[in-house]
Amino acid sequence: MKKIAIIPGDGIGKEVTREVRQLLDVYRRDAGLPIELWDLNLGADRYLSAGLTMPEDVLSTIGKDCQAVFLGALGDPRVPGHEHARDILFGLRFGLDLYANIRPVRALDDRLVPLKGKRAEQIDFVVFRENTEGAYANIGGQLRRGTADEVLWLRVFREVRELYPEIESDHMYVDALCLRMVQAPEEFQVIVTNNLFGDIVTDLAAALQGGLGMAASANVHAANGEAVAMFEPVHGSAPALAGKDVANPFAAFLTTGMMLGHLGWPGEERRIESAVARAIAERQCTPDVGGSLGTRAAGARLREQIQRSFQGTPVPQG
Ligand SMILES: NC(=O)c1ccc[n+]([C@@H]2O[C@H](COP(=O)([O-])OP(=O)(O)OC[C@H]3O[C@@H](n4cnc5c(N)ncnc54)[C@H](O)[C@@H]3O)[C@@H](O)[C@H]2O)c1
Repeated sequence: MKKIAIIPGDGIGKEVTREVRQLLDVYRRDAGLPIELWDLNLGADRYLSAGLTMPEDVLSTIGKDCQAVFLGALGDPRVPGHEHARDILFGLRFGLDLYANIRPVRALDDRLVPLKGKRAEQIDFVVFRENTEGAYANIGGQLRRGTADEVLWLRVFREVRELYPEIESDHMYVDALCLRMVQAPEEFQVIVTNNLFGDIVTDLAAALQGGLGMAASANVHAANGEAVAMFEPVHGSAPALAGKDVANPFAAFLTTGMMLGHLGWPGEERRIESAVARAIAERQCTPDVGGSLGTRAAGARLREQIQRSFQGTPVPQG
């Protein structure tokens, strides 16, 4: 049994997480997937009503008992200092040492690519963003200089490159990288970058794949899948869209696919991605990606399609 903590958070985070929650129920009920869901009522509402952000015991239970956390989004105009968001998001990222942020960037339809003359197949890469250091941790420049953990990007890059001569690699400054991502995105398969640049570069990457409504991410400690990992759509709580049933739930669904892949069901990541690609092609989607459905209707159509696909290709129990 895999245990998943679910934190809807704020704004559209709550709406897209409601859709994900129902998809996970479909997986439990109709596909017999051995997952247990732990709903956590954490976010601005809880902070404003009870002063609670991320209780210590909840964080330690997540670290001990859960294999994954799904987080909607955090950020609420009633909390301008972002106190709750900082405690919850950074509590999870730093508290569980989720040092790698993984952002697949794949355009699922030609129509979603905003670059003239480029096709969906030319947008297919992964960004690895360092997740716990740099400007967002109030630390700039070199870290732990002179120790085994010294942070000097270029020297380490050159040393590691020597170990893998079969992998073609290049160092690029971030301004040149942004230019190239727009001119020739097909040149990239993997981008490794630091926390601050990663934040910016991944929003540019999201634009290449159809916008923030299509961008998924994982925060992991190690590649071996043993430690708890956190999964969140790249978008924020978009307060201007909240409560209007217009938020695109597909970034959250694609994120759920990454989570199921991480938990040992890689076929489900592919199943969810194909269902999303089909929904986009058939315009069974929200207005930001060319459809006319609301969040609930787009979510329900996608779940129906996934449910139907269980008959053709059952879910392996792992
Ligand atoms: N990891 C997180 O929880 C996270 C990430 C980014 C921003 N935030 C917070 O979210 C709040 C709003 O931030 P922001 O406006 O800069 O970024 P945002 O991602 O919330 O929204 C930016 C714009 O992108 C579009 N958009 C985003 N998600 C969408 C979706 N699912 N469907 C359709 N359109 C979508 C909307 O036009 C929206 O106005 C702030 O409080 C910020 O701190 C949280």
